[in-house]
Amino acid sequence: MNTENKTVLVTGSGQGIGRVLALGLAERGWRVIVADLDGQRAESVAAKAGGEAVTVDISSAESCREAAHLLQHEDVVLDGLVNNAALFSTLTMKPFWEIDEQEWDRVLRVNLTGTWQITTALLPLLRRSAAASIVNIAASAVWIGRSNYAHYVASKAGVIGLTYVMSRELADDGIRANALTPGSVRTEIPRHTITPEQVRAQVNAQNVQRPGTPEDLLGAVAFLLGPDSGFVSGQTLNVDGGLTVR
Ligand SMILES: NC(=O)c1ccc[n+]([C@@H]2O[C@H](COP(=O)([O-])OP(=O)(O)OC[C@H]3O[C@@H](n4cnc5c(N)ncnc54)[C@H](O)[C@@H]3O)[C@@H](O)[C@H]2O)c1
Repeated sequence: MNTENKTVLVTGSGQGIGRVLALGLAERGWRVIVADLDGQRAESVAAKAGGEAVTVDISSAESCREAAHLLQHEDVVLDGLVNNAALFSTLTMKPFWEIDEQEWDRVLRVNLTGTWQITTALLPLLRRSAAASIVNIAASAVWIGRSNYAHYVASKAGVIGLTYVMSRELADDGIRANALTPGSVRTEIPRHTITPEQVRAQVNAQNVQRPGTPEDLLGAVAFLLGPDSGFVSGQTLNVDGGLTVR
């Protein structure tokens, strides 16, 4: 695929999956804009990716607009947007009736409202491209109704619905929108959203019987961003080693 002069912005790419996606897409020839709440981490990934860093809080409409203005002034044309930023690794597991209102609102605010807000702010830059593609990172936890983080699963189900509407409303602009639903993958960030026993049980239930890695998601994201998926829009691509089949 010819990615020469093609630019993609990956949100939440200061660490974890987003970091691997940013570095991997840069290796595949994309010019990468590393966007994250943590500006220092974004800078460090951008330096490795040979790209640019942008500090943004996707849960703030104002911050999204500021980031978009900055890029607009630089005449950036966005050919790809990967909405990967979310509250995830910092969450703790609990049944839905124990989640307090503030935590519920915050997760929905970042994961769902944030995805809508940053995409809205960046639309003028995406419209400058001849064939832009949006990839929204949801989660296969939606398909299995994974217990103990209902706010997160609900936010990701919302992201899937939002993706379908985006694909319709952006069709006339020639912009495609698809969602990716990754299964559980281990990153460099320790987290409490899955126990070692649950990891073992999931691996045993998968068709591909090994733990998933962030690198397992790269090919699917690159496919959805590029022209090989030019006839694919308004879909979800599930990458969970076959934990769920559909
Ligand atoms: N790791 C997994 O097993 C897994 C599985 C399915 C889906 N996902 C999804 O993949 C994505 C990345 O997961 P991860 O494991 O790397 O998560 P992570 O928690 O390690 O990283 C999230 C990143 O998003 C950034 N971020 C958080 N709030 C932000 C905000 N308001 N504005 C801008 N940036 C913000 C953080 O700074 C961080 O860099 C998330 O959308 C997650 O829901 C992860």
